[in-house]
Amino acid sequence: MNRRIKAVPPSLTLAIAAKAAAMKEKGEDVISLSAGEPDFDTPQPVKDAAIKAIREGQTKYTPSIGMPSLRRAIAEKLHAENGLKYDHTQVFVSVGAKQCLFDLTFVLCDEGDDVLIPSPYWLSTPEMAKLCGANPVFVPCPEEMGFMLTADAVRKAWTPKTRMIVINTPNNPSGAVYDERELIAIGKFCVEKKIFVVSDEIYEKMIYNGKKHHSILELVPELREQAAFVGGFSKTWSMTGWRVGYAAAPRDVVDACDRLQGHMTANTATPSQHAALAAMILDESFTDAMIKEFDKRRRFCVERIRKIPGVSTVEPHGAFYFLIRVDGLYGKSIGGKKVTDSLTFCEALLEKEKLAAVPGVAFGTDRHVRISYATSMGALEKGLDRMERFVRALA
Ligand SMILES: Cc1ncc(COP(=O)(O)O)c(C=O)c1O
Repeated sequence: MNRRIKAVPPSLTLAIAAKAAAMKEKGEDVISLSAGEPDFDTPQPVKDAAIKAIREGQTKYTPSIGMPSLRRAIAEKLHAENGLKYDHTQVFVSVGAKQCLFDLTFVLCDEGDDVLIPSPYWLSTPEMAKLCGANPVFVPCPEEMGFMLTADAVRKAWTPKTRMIVINTPNNPSGAVYDERELIAIGKFCVEKKIFVVSDEIYEKMIYNGKKHHSILELVPELREQAAFVGGFSKTWSMTGWRVGYAAAPRDVVDACDRLQGHMTANTATPSQHAALAAMILDESFTDAMIKEFDKRRRFCVERIRKIPGVSTVEPHGAFYFLIRVDGLYGKSIGGKKVTDSLTFCEALLEKEKLAAVPGVAFGTDRHVRISYATSMGALEKGLDRMERFVRALA
């Protein structure tokens, strides 16, 4: 077996989800707050566009990095919404933002390079670095500072081998929306040290409380030759299963990703690309309604979590997750089972209360568990009642 894949652990999120699904199958009343996808249906015009494409025979290969029409529409979006001017030849389309992130890591990093990863992090980011032979170097974003990434922390984590940094704002799992001034300082530092910036902005629309999303690429234009914007359709248009993501980057990087995709996956499914193209011309009403609903749930969760004794949370301003601090309960037991870390906490929670949450250790923080509010209000109410009952029963 390849030594890099041997070093990659199985996904804890998938392990918990599989256990919860198996319990559900047995007829148990499981509530899952572990989802990483909106609970809204994909908009009808998007589905219709895919069906029309299939009917009209649009079922063959497209260029590996996507249909020119879709890449043009993405370039226009980046200009209109993010203030980033790219030619469509600098945009590539992949099997989700996930593949864009993997492609970029693969084409930019060599064996032994360091990749700076703000922590807590999206769980695939360090594994991608490892799979590409690079070393993840974590940049602490402490809870006491609202899980914010600071330029100071980036400077401290930098090593002479630093090749790349992956910035994800709004952040999964913390919900933090990184500060404009810090992003500017980070961008300037990256220019100075020639660090390639991969900016994962997949949650750019999921933002609340009047906060504003800032792209580091817009804030620091000098970065443009050493940075990539990564976005996707999964979250904004509730299209997780369609598998369409995109990135904009300097032309040589796009060409390298083109070669990689050409030998690895070729294009993402052609009907999915037609669906994505239809999503790009939708008005804002679908996403706006979804964000409004998420915000309602977010407000409910802040209040509700804060009523649970022994746990705490920092109010998230973006994405659709909460990190709940639970380490004050470690050492306690329930039904003869001792809770010692985020994994045993989540295992006991699933077993005793049939509530699925994700252990924070998967995101680099063993003090927390992650819940998602991309699920119905009813499930959130019931789920957090169960969490409270569980916490109160720990002794
Ligand atoms: C931070 C972050 N980046 C990227 C992705 C990948 O999204 P997709 O491949 O569905 O476009 C996700 C999905 O959960 C995510 O949370």
